[in-house]
This record gives sequence, structure tokens and C-alpha cells, in this order.
Amino acid sequence: MNVPAKTGITPAAMRKVYVKTYGCQMNVYDSERMGDALARDGYVATDTPDNADLIVINTCHIREKAAEKVYSELGRMRQIKERREVEGQKTVIAVAGCVAQAEGNEIIKRSPAVDLVVGPQSYHRLGQYVSDAAEGKRVVATDFAIEDKFGELPPATRAQIRNRGVAAFLTIQEGCDKFCTFCVVPYTRGAEVSRNARQILDEAQRLADSGVREVTLLGQNVNAWHGAGSDGMEMRLGDLLASISEISGIERLRYTTSHPIDMEDTLIEAHRTLPKLMPYLHLPVQAGSNRILKAMNRRHDRDYYFDLVERIRAANPDIALSGDFITGFPGETEADFEDTLSLIRRVKYASAFSFRYSPRPGTPGADMANQIDEDVRAERLGRLQRLIAEQQFEFNKTREGMEMRVLIEKPAKYEAQVMARSPWLQPVILPDTAGKIGDIVNVKIVSAGPNSLAGEPV
Ligand code: SAH
Ligand code: SF4
Ligand code: F3S
Repeated sequence: MNVPAKTGITPAAMRKVYVKTYGCQMNVYDSERMGDALARDGYVATDTPDNADLIVINTCHIREKAAEKVYSELGRMRQIKERREVEGQKTVIAVAGCVAQAEGNEIIKRSPAVDLVVGPQSYHRLGQYVSDAAEGKRVVATDFAIEDKFGELPPATRAQIRNRGVAAFLTIQEGCDKFCTFCVVPYTRGAEVSRNARQILDEAQRLADSGVREVTLLGQNVNAWHGAGSDGMEMRLGDLLASISEISGIERLRYTTSHPIDMEDTLIEAHRTLPKLMPYLHLPVQAGSNRILKAMNRRHDRDYYFDLVERIRAANPDIALSGDFITGFPGETEADFEDTLSLIRRVKYASAFSFRYSPRPGTPGADMANQIDEDVRAERLGRLQRLIAEQQFEFNKTREGMEMRVLIEKPAKYEAQVMARSPWLQPVILPDTAGKIGDIVNVKIVSAGPNSLAGEPV
């Protein structure tokens, strides 16, 4: 990318890019892919915005708090931009991600320092937009492009993959057609699109070739993924997992996030038949009351979920479940909330994410008449989180004395220790004599805490 000297921009190949990521794992993956694309244009990553020629803020719109963070962050970035301008250097500020998609022009109006707003469906054109912005144009790119974004984004190099460690994310499905009444994702990520199987398998192979041992397949509705095999036959997620299982080097597979209604039999069967598929499933239910499930447009009731959990545990009794919960959705009574607690008691989770309901502009939930007081939402969240914390600790304690295979991921906080990951996604602290990063080793769990396990090699 050649930039005219008059812009006062640092010459190509010496330019620095700082990327800050908010939100879900898909944003983490997207930030990596944007970084890969920018590297091809000569940008080198930096971990501070202070000396960055390009600042990319990859944003999340899911709850009000997440979205509001962007503007305070932009305030800080503006100061950096102004300081660098005095020093004769130019800084391009880009807002990417779901706030970019949802607010578009609004961001440019509210934050004059922003040069570029780019939604998740336009990342394959990022290089062009950045060079336009560097020349002084203000760019807003929030169209849902018709071309194949993933096909056009450059693949990561071996060095880039190695830098990111031995456990990697791989987006296989994006967008959502479910329209739960609380959720912005169908508006920010667009319609449900599955990536093509060949492309996914090639990317998985590349990850394996570069030392990745564990791959987590990502999608807003990952289990709605579908594609066609090399023989033209319809493939579902269970088939895709089986194909990736055949790649040597990749030893552990996970997928997230699954919607209960797309949890079909072939996928449940995969948990019985594929040894590389880890016994851990994130299966959000959001609420335990039939009335609230209906108001949320979740498309299933409480009994369906119980039955599903039973079928999953029948396929693999080792499976641990996690979930997402929302407290204080419009109209939620104390009795409805009790139903959520009783569902949690019955299912028994190994972990869970939970949130107080946040009304989001443009979603049906925000216009519902019977909004719940903020303190009630918060109080219920506290009760729910205490219950989940108890269950998580209990689950961790059941691992004490157990032998298991763990993947060593990185150095731990303290010297002479490494951090590994159990099959159930628990962090496991080990002495560094247990092995090196990327090894999958047998360990015995010697103690369990609320959030992690400690083990020793066997
Ligand atoms: N596709 C996933 C969820 C993606 S969003 C699914 O269907 O489960 C991640 C989580 O954020 C959701 O599961 C939900 O618990 C939470 N969430 C989404 N919108 C929210 C809102 N308006 N207020 C509070 N929590 C919300
Ligand atoms: Fe949001 Fe519902 Fe789609 Fe999940 S399934 S992304 S909660 S609309
Ligand atoms: Fe947030 Fe967008 Fe992910 S709204 S949770 S970054 S899909």
C-alpha cells in the first residue's frame, strides 16, 4: 500500500497498529484476522496505542455497558491522536465490530476523532478503507457485503499462528436468524451464514501445521452450521467435527455457542463417538420459566431443555454443561425467576455466564411495557451468581484425585508453573516440569479451587 508523502504518515512496513478487542470470542478471532490482513499491508502490531499509526477498536454491542465503553475509550484515543499530531505524526482511528455496525454514522458524529467505521461484514476490504482514511477521507462501511468475506481475507501465516499459542479459534458460522427478543446480534452480524467446509478444513490444517493442538469452532449459532462435503453430500456440524478430527496434530475440539433447538441427534452422537471432542458443552438457556422463554422467543420450553440435557448426558455421561442466563427480562416475576433457579439446580452447571437484562435499542424487548427495576434485576443476578459459583466449586471438587489429560497452554502467573486446560475447560496449574507448551500430559488433580485446579504430573 503506497501512501503519498504529503499525509505525513510513517512509510509502509514501519507502521504500527494497535488493536483493542471487546466482546465475544468471535471478536477475538476477527481481530486476529484483521491483524493478519493489516500485516500484509506492512503494519506491525504494537501493544500500546501511544505510538500507533493505526488504532482499531473492535467493539461489542450486546449490553449497554459494553457499548458505552467504546466512547470512553475513544476519548482516550483522541488525546493520543492530538498529542501525536503536535509531534507531526498522523493517527488513524478505526471503530470495528458490532457497535460500528449498529451505530455507523452516529459514531462519526459523536466522535470527530474517528476516521473509519467498519462493520464485521466488511473486514476483507479493511486495507482499502484504512488507506482511504489515511488520505483524509472519513469512511463508514456497514453494508452487508455479498462476496465471501472469509474467502477474501488473507490466511494467517505460520508465524502469526504460532504467536497466538496452541489453542485457536476458528469461525465457521456467523450471524443469526433467531431473533431472540433481547438480542442485537441478528442486527449487528446479519443473517446466518455458514462458511464452506473446504475452507474450514484448510484453515484447520494450517492451524495444525503451525503447532495448534486445540481448536474451538465458533458461531453465534454454531450448531446451525451446514455445508457440503467433497462428494456433494449435505454435512452438518457432527460431520464437520468428524472431518476435523481426522487432521493429525489437532488433538482437542470444542464448539460454541449452541442453541438448544439446533442440537440435533448427529451432533449429540458425535459426543459419543469422537474421542477428540471435549466433554464440555456451552448450551445457553437464558431463563427457566416457560412464560419468559416464550417472551424471549427462544422457541423451546423448559421440559425440552431437560430432555435435551438428558439425551446429551446419555451420549456421554462425562459431559459438563455451561450456560448463559439473563435476569429481569421484562415481565419476569419472582416466581419466574424461581423457575430459573430450579432449572439450574436440576441441570447442575460446571460454569455459566449471567447478566442482568439490558434493554437494547431496536430489539422488541426494549419496547415491552413491563420493564423490571434495575435493582430487582441486579438482586436476582446476585442470587443466581451465588448458586452458579457453588455449583462450579462443587464441580471442580469432583475432579480432586482424578487423573486427566491436560493441554499445557502458557506460563502461569508464578515462576516455575505452567497453565494447562482440563477437558472441562478448567485452568489447571502445574509445576513446569510437567511438560512444555503444547504438550498434552497426564496429571493428577491434587486440589480444587472455585476457579481453577492444581495438579501434578503422573
Ligand atoms: N447465540 C448465543 C448468545 C450470544 S450473546 C445464544 O443464542 O445463546 C451472549 C449472551 O449475552 C447471551 O446468551 C445472553 O445471555 C447475553 N445477552 C444477550 N443480549 C442481552 C441483553 N440485551 N441483556 C443481557 N444479556 C444479554
Ligand atoms: Fe442472540 Fe438469540 Fe441469536 Fe443467540 S440465538 S445470537 S441470543 S438472537
Ligand atoms: Fe458482542 Fe457482537 Fe460478539 S455484540 S457478543 S461482539 S457478536
